[in-house]
Amino acid sequence: MAGSPKLRQNCWLLDDVLPKDHCIPAQYLAEAPDGVFQNFCSLLSRDVYSEGDAQSLYDYVMRRKSEMSEPFLTMLTIWLADELKHYEALRRTYRCLAGVSFADMDRRFAARVHEFEPLQMALEDEFTLLVTLMFDEIGSVYSYRRDLREYYRYFGQSIERIGHHLVKDEGMHFNNAAEVLLTCHSHRLSEVKGLLENISQLESSLKTYYKTFF
Ligand SMILES: [Fe+2]
Ligand SMILES: [Fe+2]
Repeated sequence: MAGSPKLRQNCWLLDDVLPKDHCIPAQYLAEAPDGVFQNFCSLLSRDVYSEGDAQSLYDYVMRRKSEMSEPFLTMLTIWLADELKHYEALRRTYRCLAGVSFADMDRRFAARVHEFEPLQMALEDEFTLLVTLMFDEIGSVYSYRRDLREYYRYFGQSIERIGHHLVKDEGMHFNNAAEVLLTCHSHRLSEVKGLLENISQLESSLKTYYKTFF
């Protein structure tokens, strides 16, 4: 194996950016363009939980820990910490925007069932997990970048900063996964293109959102 991957983490404290009891000044709610508030709330009602789903993927990988490399597990620990911070950041955003209580979100989150069967192709081994993760993370970069422009920026500096951190963190997750791929699986790089095509087909064939990836 050629050295260790250069893993990076965007360090920021959620409490400094968006305190738990943050209130969005009424002026922003009044001035947001038509439809932005409603669409942002419905977007958050999905995004909040998909960030929290990282825990179930992490737990799944940990059950197969003996198959995984040390760099991959180190990367995944950083990844989980960030994703759980995103979960809490979006819970706070959703609460102060839509008025949904944390207890309500806890109940909805606990009711989710995680299915891994349809994702077998992605979960085959560390290599397929890494490529799937890269696919998912780069998708998150693009969607959060769009959402920052369309939603986050209308509700004050704190919410806007959350959007910026999400984009930056997801970009680093992509980079970190790529680093582990290059360090530990460079002999399989020729398989990446075909696998990405299959993952992309899998994503569009899944009728519902699978609460793990995608
Ligand atoms: Fe995230
Ligand atoms: Fe991520």
